[in-house]
Amino acid sequence: MAEVNYISPDGTVTTIDARDGDSVMETAVKNGVKGIVAECGGACACATCHVYVDEDFVSIVGGPGDLEDDMLDGTAADRCENSRLSCQIKMCAEYDGLTVKIAPKQV
Ligand code: FES
Repeated sequence: MAEVNYISPDGTVTTIDARDGDSVMETAVKNGVKGIVAECGGACACATCHVYVDEDFVSIVGGPGDLEDDMLDGTAADRCENSRLSCQIKMCAEYDGLTVKIAPKQV
């Protein structure tokens, strides 16, 4: 188990114990965290699960793969250096304390 903190666009912070192997998107959806739409269900095909990874975790989580990188060009909210698609970040013990800010617009 590892904790992940979601910061909503209104500043609300929600902390969830994530199951190892579940994505940051799945963890949010399963636990009722609002703001992540995830239209494609995690197939890296919709870019509606956009989050900004906290700077302290950018080097730990790493950058997007090629497909995700392409999809990030189509996000509804501005893409930033720390933008990721949350369905592509799989939780593990190493990510304990991961904080992500949910993009203000997903569609
Ligand atoms: Fe569709 Fe992440 S859920 S790209």
